[in-house]
Amino acid sequence: MKVLVTGGAGYIGSHLADRLLAEGHQVIVVDNLSLGKLANIEHNLESPDFRFVEGDILDVPLIDELIGECELIFHLAAVVGVKHVLTDPLQAMMTNVCGTGSVLQSACQHGRKVVLASSSEVYAKSTKVPLDEDDDRLQGSTQVSRWCYSTAKALDEHLALAYHRQRDLPVVIIRYFNSYGPRLDPRGYGSVVAKFVNQALDGRPITVHGDGRQTRCFTYIDDTVEGTVLSATVEAANGEVFNIARAEETTVLHLAEIIKDMANSSSDITLVPYEQEYGDDFEDIRRRVPAVDKAERILGFRAQVPLAEGLEQTISSFRSGR
Ligand SMILES: NC(=O)c1ccc[n+]([C@@H]2O[C@H](COP(=O)([O-])OP(=O)(O)OC[C@H]3O[C@@H](n4cnc5c(N)ncnc54)[C@H](O)[C@@H]3O)[C@@H](O)[C@H]2O)c1
Repeated sequence: MKVLVTGGAGYIGSHLADRLLAEGHQVIVVDNLSLGKLANIEHNLESPDFRFVEGDILDVPLIDELIGECELIFHLAAVVGVKHVLTDPLQAMMTNVCGTGSVLQSACQHGRKVVLASSSEVYAKSTKVPLDEDDDRLQGSTQVSRWCYSTAKALDEHLALAYHRQRDLPVVIIRYFNSYGPRLDPRGYGSVVAKFVNQALDGRPITVHGDGRQTRCFTYIDDTVEGTVLSATVEAANGEVFNIARAEETTVLHLAEIIKDMANSSSDITLVPYEQEYGDDFEDIRRRVPAVDKAERILGFRAQVPLAEGLEQTISSFRSGR
């Protein structure tokens, strides 16, 4: 099958492209390389089944042409990472709302199935544990830029579901929860794991925001990709939303301690106020735990890789990439 991966030079997209090629598919990656890197895909550039198109999802004719060529679209291109969203909320909104709108419209015109990458951020400030896919969202103020990513992803989901219900577009929405693994941007813009691993390997202080007792659930990339592929292949997934996550809750402080330990690092672990990193209007949430039973029941997906094992792989890949 010929498959389009938008954002396929990025962290998740490049691993997904590898997996699709290994399964015998033809893969086209479109990416504007704003956050993604050629290094993530260069091992595939010589493959006759792989094509890289440097381009923007806001380029409607280009996206329409590529979607017309493919049977299945994994739409992952987005402005990702709190830091990027806070620095340029306009670009984030344009890409994450208008870009997705174009992808969905074109997929609908060509009758192509879309798997849409959404985020645990859509739950925003909800304090419910665990978070089911059909739970209410508790959204922050529009005055706080942090929430524009969450709002954009939620709007993407609404758009996708509207195309599905009104125009019969086959769509599956997947909400990733803190995926981590090799190829994360070592500058750590979008990932606390990447940031801590890099700090630990450099022997710099490992900077934990707030009191470090906020928790997150981390999902290793192999599991992220497995859930993504299953969402495209299981017929009953059509029109549904899934958390693609591992429900192992870890405090951010504990994460810092394990990474320091596993990296044999002499780094200090330092608590840093949120305001120092993100400015005064930043708001964070204490816990975000996914319900995983729907993905297990419908997709047959259960994340397999324990945190310690995934961190081992990640640290070793960061080490060898230096
Ligand atoms: N990594 C996670 O834990 C996580 C969590 C929740 C949701 N997601 C979602 O998963 C998807 C992939 O995220 P990722 O972690 O791989 O991030 P990433 O930044 O590595 O990948 C996103 C890719 O999109 C590309 N891109 C950005 N704007 C573009 C544009 N206008 N046109 C073309 N390409 C563009 C970037 O260059 C990058 O390669 C995103 O939609 C993200 O919102 C990721």
